[in-house]
Amino acid sequence: MEEMGVEWLQLIRLDETDSTNTRIRQCEAVREMTVVTAEYQTAGRGQRGNSWESERGENLSFSILIRPAFVKASEQFILSQAVSLAIQQTLEEYVRPVRIKWPNDIYWNDRKICGILIENELNGKQIERCVLGIGLNVNQREFRSDAPNPVSLYQILGMEQDRDRILMKILFRFRQELQRIAAGESKQVAQEYFQALYRKKGFHAYRDKDGIFEARMEGVEPQGFLLLRDREGGLRRYAFKEVSIVLGRYFL
Ligand code: BTN
Repeated sequence: MEEMGVEWLQLIRLDETDSTNTRIRQCEAVREMTVVTAEYQTAGRGQRGNSWESERGENLSFSILIRPAFVKASEQFILSQAVSLAIQQTLEEYVRPVRIKWPNDIYWNDRKICGILIENELNGKQIERCVLGIGLNVNQREFRSDAPNPVSLYQILGMEQDRDRILMKILFRFRQELQRIAAGESKQVAQEYFQALYRKKGFHAYRDKDGIFEARMEGVEPQGFLLLRDREGGLRRYAFKEVSIVLGRYFL
C-alpha cells in the first residue's frame, strides 16, 4: 500500500482488494477527500448487482469518500451529477463526444467508457458519508465480459494514456464541482449535467415495464427522476432502473 496526500486529499493506492467501494469504508476520512485506487479488484461491483470487470493494471478503478455536510440527503443526486460532469469534462480533453447517460454512466458515442457506483450512508436528513466508485476504461485492449458496449481510451486513440494524470484531473474537477455546490450553485451544476446528457436531443426509443415507445428528454428532477415527453405529448417520469434506452438489440 502506498499513501500520498496534498492538504485536501488522502490518496491510498492498493495493488489488490475486493472492491475499493468496500475497502474505503474502513478509512477514517481525515481530509476533505479520501481516495482508494486498486490495480485489481477481486470482487468489483457494478450497478444492478452486476460485477465490474477490469484487466489488472490497465484501467482506473477507484473510490472517493467525502462527507458532504452541505448536501441534504434529499438532494444527494447533485453529487452524482457533479462526479459525472467531472469525468465527462476530463474525458473530453482526450476524446469527443463524451456524454452522460442518465443517471451516471459515461459514454463515448454509443459505447460505455466509464461506470459509477454511488453508495451513500445517511443519518436522518444528512449524508454521513458518500462513496463514489468509478471504473474507467483506459488502456484495456479487449473486453471479454458480456457488457453490451464497452470501450476504452486505448481503443479510441490507439495509444496508452497516463492513468495517474487522468485520475488527478478528475479529482481536481470533482473538488471544483463540490465547491460550486457548497457555494449555492447546484442549479448551474444540474443545468450543465442536463446539457451533457447522452441522447438529449430529438426523439429516441425507450423501454419501460409497458413496452417500447419514442420520447425526447424533457428534464431531470433534483431528486434524479428522468422526465420524458412521448410522441403523444404525455409526460413520463422515471426512477433509476424503471426505463432503458433502446440501442439496436441492446437495452442500455
Ligand atoms: C456500473 O455498473 O456501471 C458501475 C461500475 C462501478 C465500478 C467501480 S470500480 C471502482 C469501484 N469499486 C467497485 O467495486 N465498483 C466501483
